[in-house]
Amino acid sequence: MCSLLKARVAKGVLFTLLMTGAARGYAAEKTLYVYGVAPTSAQIADWDIDVRGQDGAGLPPGKGSVDDGAEIFSQQCALCHGTFGEGANRFPKLAGGDGTLTAERPEPTVGSYWPFAPTLFDYINRAMPMQAPRTLKTDEVYAVAAYILNLNNIVPNDFVADKDSLPKVKMPNHDNFSWKDPRPDTHVEPCMTKCADPRDVKIVSTAEGGSLTPRTTGPLDDMRPK
Ligand code: HEC
Repeated sequence: MCSLLKARVAKGVLFTLLMTGAARGYAAEKTLYVYGVAPTSAQIADWDIDVRGQDGAGLPPGKGSVDDGAEIFSQQCALCHGTFGEGANRFPKLAGGDGTLTAERPEPTVGSYWPFAPTLFDYINRAMPMQAPRTLKTDEVYAVAAYILNLNNIVPNDFVADKDSLPKVKMPNHDNFSWKDPRPDTHVEPCMTKCADPRDVKIVSTAEGGSLTPRTTGPLDDMRPK
């Protein structure tokens, strides 16, 4: 009898704890996510991290040297990318591959393939290290970016990456990208007034009926639309 009572009391305590926890969770959520609450400037800044490759727009204040980058890289990145960016196990190489893009086995890396240096900051800042993205400080991101560029012989040993220097780095493969899109624009004017009555619209042909993707295998009956 006594132990049953204890169990009941214990359950009651547990229940109260759960309820308090739930109430707290709700309260926290209310301040953060409920519609109508204006996000704080800190919250916006936390999301607004994109950096434009072409000109580095969006790069934050801060800086990092090749030497500092080497240190951070060996601790936080080398496990997967190799000490010199050569790639460990099956994780991607970050350096090398020069002149292989037209080879039978191309090796696209930051050095051989990427067109813009600021993208390196953007990518690392939002996605690396893979198991803990967004844990590096701004200066650390600049530093590992400088180190990776140096591994690729794109910048000298005394290079310091910051919002002014990164956009000025010319990536070796930059000019091999086609920056003009030769495809014609299509101009479809949406109908806003006196449009066709949808009830009058008739489907006159279908991809199947037009044999656009004729099947060449399988029994004949299965090739026909049902
Ligand atoms: C746990 C393994 C791991 C760690 C640690 C790690 N990365 Fe990566 N990294 C990856 C994987 C996997 C990819 C490919 C992701 C993809 O393609 O979606 C990648 C991709 C990259 C790329 C893009 C490569 C390309 O050419 O597309 C860069 C740059 C990079 N990592 C930098 C870093 C830096 C800098 C660090 C340390 C701060 C780091 N990574 C730590 C696993 C890791």
